[in-house]
Amino acid sequence: MTKARFPMRRFTSLLFGLVVSASVSAAGGHEGLAPANTQVANKAMLQRGAAMYMNYCAGCHSLKYLRYSRMAEDLGLTEEQVMENLAFSDTAKFGETINAAMTPKDGAAFFGKAPPDLSLSARSRGVDWVYNYLKSFYVDPTSATGWNNTILANASMPHVLWELQGSQSAHYGEAKEAGASPAVESLELTTPGLLSPAEYDAAVRDLVTFLEYAAEPAILQRQAIGVWVLLYLALFTLIAWLLKQEYWKDVH
Ligand code: HEC
Repeated sequence: MTKARFPMRRFTSLLFGLVVSASVSAAGGHEGLAPANTQVANKAMLQRGAAMYMNYCAGCHSLKYLRYSRMAEDLGLTEEQVMENLAFSDTAKFGETINAAMTPKDGAAFFGKAPPDLSLSARSRGVDWVYNYLKSFYVDPTSATGWNNTILANASMPHVLWELQGSQSAHYGEAKEAGASPAVESLELTTPGLLSPAEYDAAVRDLVTFLEYAAEPAILQRQAIGVWVLLYLALFTLIAWLLKQEYWKDVH
């Protein structure tokens, strides 16, 4: 009798492949972008990022998947701490989602483009993109806001973090086609801000970590459950293998 062999090796490599591809796609690798290295399980980073968000972004951008109450619970803060220090307006309620101070219509009137809901951007563009975007504003006297951005050319958003970062100037190279505006080759920090470049990177990393969490408030629970699912799968694989050994013991 020929021995029917359980394709154990193929099964384990399949399982391994699934785990690796899942973690790669979760990291959302984009070519040419500096990695944001966010840490959504880090509560201190999330708290600092939330404060940055409320101070510098909530005036224009909403976070429609996140309620203040949920944020308090996940970030380990009390209702008072959130409503006194982090709620954007006095009329905001603890049970509400985080709205922008500005309506999309006003935003469109002021900036030519409505500031989008940021939970969507953190997901659709990815955290690395947002991290690089916030580091890539430069002075451009020809634009309406006085700023431009190498990641999102002609962005209608001003550089709201300029006090922290300082201002960068562009070095231009050759234009790609005749008549086109010259391409930006590199950026140089010409006026320092309140933070050093390393401190600014860390602050933006906190902010983007918070945005990653805000895009999917269940992410903390999901990751914790994921660990148990993998442990369960590993244990189950072991039991199945032991059972197979037991069944085939007398056949040889
Ligand atoms: C003064 C209003 C204003 C403030 C404050 C502001 N933004 Fe914006 N933001 C905009 C506008 C307008 C756009 C649309 C830009 C465009 O598409 O040209 C935008 C676009 C963006 C985008 C790109 C979204 C996408 O998917 O295209 C990101 C990311 C972003 N903002 C992040 C932030 C962060 C983070 C902060 C806080 C540090 C912030 N913004 C503060 C007005 C603002």
